[in-house]
Amino acid sequence: MGRLRDKFGRAITDLRVSVTDRCNYKCVYCRTGNEGAQYSELAIEDYLRMVRRFVALGIEKIRLTGGEPLLRHGLVEMVSELAKMRTPYLSDGAHKDSSHPLDIALTTNGHLLEGLARPLKDAGLNRITVSMDAVDSETFAAITRVPRSFDRVMAGIRQAKVVGLAPIKVNCVLLRGFNDNQIEQFAEFSRREDVIVRFIEFMPLEEDRTWKPETVVPMNEVVGRLNAYRPLVELAPNAASETAKRFTFDDGLGEIGIIAPVSRPFCGHCSRVRLTSDGKIRTCLFSQSDHDLYGEMLRGGTDEELDAYIRKVVMRKEERHHIGEPGFEKPSRNMVHIGG
Ligand code: GTP
Ligand code: 5AD
Repeated sequence: MGRLRDKFGRAITDLRVSVTDRCNYKCVYCRTGNEGAQYSELAIEDYLRMVRRFVALGIEKIRLTGGEPLLRHGLVEMVSELAKMRTPYLSDGAHKDSSHPLDIALTTNGHLLEGLARPLKDAGLNRITVSMDAVDSETFAAITRVPRSFDRVMAGIRQAKVVGLAPIKVNCVLLRGFNDNQIEQFAEFSRREDVIVRFIEFMPLEEDRTWKPETVVPMNEVVGRLNAYRPLVELAPNAASETAKRFTFDDGLGEIGIIAPVSRPFCGHCSRVRLTSDGKIRTCLFSQSDHDLYGEMLRGGTDEELDAYIRKVVMRKEERHHIGEPGFEKPSRNMVHIGG
């Protein structure tokens, strides 16, 4: 039957698994500040069974997300099990007799990273992305609404480097009037700390539903600002499904990525599906519904039945999102309940 594809012919190679929708930060652009998880969490073995089915069908890359995944008990053990899995596919779609390991990545706010970086690396985690929306501690605490959070995250990033989780990516969601004064400081940060800084356009995925187009800082503006700071040099994409446009500076120091889902959508080469903490498949961040894979498991679905279910759901993946278009409807879940 071949590897997992949707009806537009896109090969689905990346699975993002949310292991909790709890978070220890209350970032102003994401959460209202109300405590508590909204959706259930499953046993780690249940996520692993579902992931195994996806891998058998062609998934090569797993990104663990949340909420905040480092809050999840059993995460390190989950990574060791993921590290044992092998994909029977090559990126070019050819079926292979021998097999290779998955690319295992994690997106975290970094608050608990200092203590967990080594166990995660030892368990087989390859890469890490830290969400960090300011490089000065006051703005950072104002965004996360957690005092002294900046120093903890910096300690986490440095420890991740020490243990060899590389490359380290730092994600910054730019909000006009809030942290867009930090663009140049982030460029310096990338050059000084040797991390990849990625600026992300703000999308309508927040709990309090206050997104406005004016709050988005578009890619062109960021490129203009960075070029004025120091001439940029564009880098080739690492992969066809890359979300970021990549740059370095004229002296080769630092790397900047710009992720522009609003002004330059990358849906045409999207290779992602998501599994929520309660075991639902989401085929797009902006889906209006989800698909209960865990329910199929609970009903006693065999591996073959789960595979057929996954194929059927993925076939219906949305062509693209409609942010900013007339009639745009916000998705049925917010970012914190989907996983970034
Ligand atoms: P790697 O290439 O493995 O590093 O992953 P990535 O480029 O997907 O990066 P990451 O997981 O850090 O995602 C970066 C940001 O891109 C997310 O936080 C989202 O804001 C945005 N993003 C990721 N996936 C999607 C998607 O499917 N649709 C849209 N519209 N935005 C996405
Ligand atoms: N728009 C764009 N990116 C977002 N993230 C969270 N909410 C949004 C949004 N509304 C980012 C986080 C983190 C990742 C999980 O998604 O900053 O890097």
